[in-house]
Amino acid sequence: MTILTISGSPSRHSRSSALLGHLAHALAAAGHPVQHVGLKDIPAEDLIGAHVHSAGARALRLKLEAAHALVIATPVYKASIGGGLKALLDLLPEDALAGKVVLPVATGGSLTHLLALEYAFKPVLAALGARTILGGVFATDKDLAVLADGEVAISRAILDRLETAVQELRAHLDVLNPHVRASRATLRAV
Ligand SMILES: Cc1cc2nc3c(=O)[nH]c(=O)nc-3n(C[C@H](O)[C@H](O)[C@H](O)COP(=O)(O)O)c2cc1C
Repeated sequence: MTILTISGSPSRHSRSSALLGHLAHALAAAGHPVQHVGLKDIPAEDLIGAHVHSAGARALRLKLEAAHALVIATPVYKASIGGGLKALLDLLPEDALAGKVVLPVATGGSLTHLLALEYAFKPVLAALGARTILGGVFATDKDLAVLADGEVAISRAILDRLETAVQELRAHLDVLNPHVRASRATLRAV
């Protein structure tokens, strides 16, 4: 089952994108085709101008339509999701996330805005039709060290939370997967 990852950070050495990359790697290793979209894949003019009919917006919609699940990451900016990510989500129709499993991921400078995941991020995802929104992963910069080469080192505690999130997402995808459902039905019948 196909997964789309969306990175909502404009940063070159992005902590939230590092978490997303880790999740993408784990899901790909488990056999899921993974596609990715970042803010820079859509022309800034289309983002700022909310050009919903642009080629960039169309390409984003098509990738999303093909995905069964969305893993989406944002930095916390001013107690909310990043403005660039909000502009990207504004390019989507209101039912864009209907029927998809959504795993939100956020990073913040501290725990002060931990709840931004609940009061800012999840409502936007729900407004786009998402009804299966997983608990999500929040990490602070203390858990994510940007190394000299630009790589991000992730703490053990967050790696464990990412692993749990992968398992939860895969369990939800199994529910959607007709092959898994059929084989479970056969086992029950036996
Ligand atoms: C413009 C800006 C605003 C920020 N606002 C907040 C904030 O309100 N609360 C917070 O906890 N962290 C805030 N931060 C810190 C970032 O959320 C944090 O460093 C995050 O890990 C960055 O993610 P990224 O590396 O993926 O961009 C802000 C950072 C920037 C650059």
